[in-house]
Amino acid sequence: MNKHHIYSTLRSIIIAAIIILNSINMNAQTTSLGLEKHSEQPYLTLNNGVRMPQVGLGLYMIQEGDEAYNSVRTALAQGYRHFDCAHAYRNERSLGRALKDSGIPRDSVWITSKLWQNEYGKGKTATSIDRMLSRLGLDYIDLVYFHQPVGDYVEGWQELEEVLKSGKVRAIGISNFDASDSIFDSLVKHCRIKPQIMQIECHPYAQRRHWQQRCAEEGIQLACWFPLGGRDSKGEILRDPVINRIAKAHGKSAAQVIIRWHIQEGFSVIPGASNPEYIKENIDVMDFALSNVEMAAIRALDKEKRYFNMSYEDQVRWFKQWNPED
Ligand SMILES: NC(=O)c1ccc[n+]([C@@H]2O[C@H](COP(=O)([O-])OP(=O)(O)OC[C@H]3O[C@@H](n4cnc5c(N)ncnc54)[C@H](OP(=O)(O)O)[C@@H]3O)[C@@H](O)[C@H]2O)c1
Repeated sequence: MNKHHIYSTLRSIIIAAIIILNSINMNAQTTSLGLEKHSEQPYLTLNNGVRMPQVGLGLYMIQEGDEAYNSVRTALAQGYRHFDCAHAYRNERSLGRALKDSGIPRDSVWITSKLWQNEYGKGKTATSIDRMLSRLGLDYIDLVYFHQPVGDYVEGWQELEEVLKSGKVRAIGISNFDASDSIFDSLVKHCRIKPQIMQIECHPYAQRRHWQQRCAEEGIQLACWFPLGGRDSKGEILRDPVINRIAKAHGKSAAQVIIRWHIQEGFSVIPGASNPEYIKENIDVMDFALSNVEMAAIRALDKEKRYFNMSYEDQVRWFKQWNPED
């Protein structure tokens, strides 16, 4: 055997070993996540012991009426059991109607909505939740967020804590409280009941490590909006070469790889879609796992590139100017 043959045999052995190690690692991850091929969806346990399906359908920009109703019906038929809504999206009625018409038991579906800045404080919160329940056609809701750190959110939080105790809401959360540490602290360090969850922009190009750490320290679950980059990204992350290389290796789409990355990071992920094919594709992520090497390759894509870049001062100004109608 000449020198060339020895080198090429050694190279083949090393490549085979890498492939075998990678697949052992993948299987270990699948098992440790408790995910079998085509298994049920994973759940997250929040700091008050309530269990929430990790993957949901986001309803931002989905038109009230046929579009929202059909998207929710399609998603329920595909196995989604978590919907992320908001008063500001103005499609709570279609969500509630689709859930009712599906005949799926209420207690097997997780419903989230968000209060706008003018709906809490000065004793308004309990009434606002009653109105929300009436729009949804429900007698309780699983999770309510304050949509932004705007308005009387400290006083409002005390009111929301009382609604939580009443049982009309099962979990309470904060959304967009990543505007600064002082804003986050102004609520988290002074509340009696800590938020169960914080929802912020988070995806492979802006992984929000500071907020991952702050949430972990406070026992707060992280939920990711714009998980695929959102509409304003114009599919930039979906075209990323590293993500597409990993997708090809698994016979999956770039979106499925990104959603899988969110799941394995332990985030709650709520991709938004109205296209029935996307809705179907985005939940079909339970039959594969990313290896540690692949997770590290996606982590390395972080460049804190946000697709929503409005300053906090502008947010306050804009969000106080506009209020969702009932
Ligand atoms: N708390 C907040 O302030 C806040 C802010 C923004 C969003 N959110 C929540 O987070 C959810 C997710 O964010 P988002 O919907 O804005 O952004 P996203 O999920 O990152 O992206 C949605 C866009 O991706 C497209 N898409 C979905 N699945 C796809 C796939 N498999 N392949 C290719 N394209 C795909 C959708 O297309 P189609 O529409 O054509 O189907 C839509 O244009 C929202 O729906 C909302 O519930 C919260």
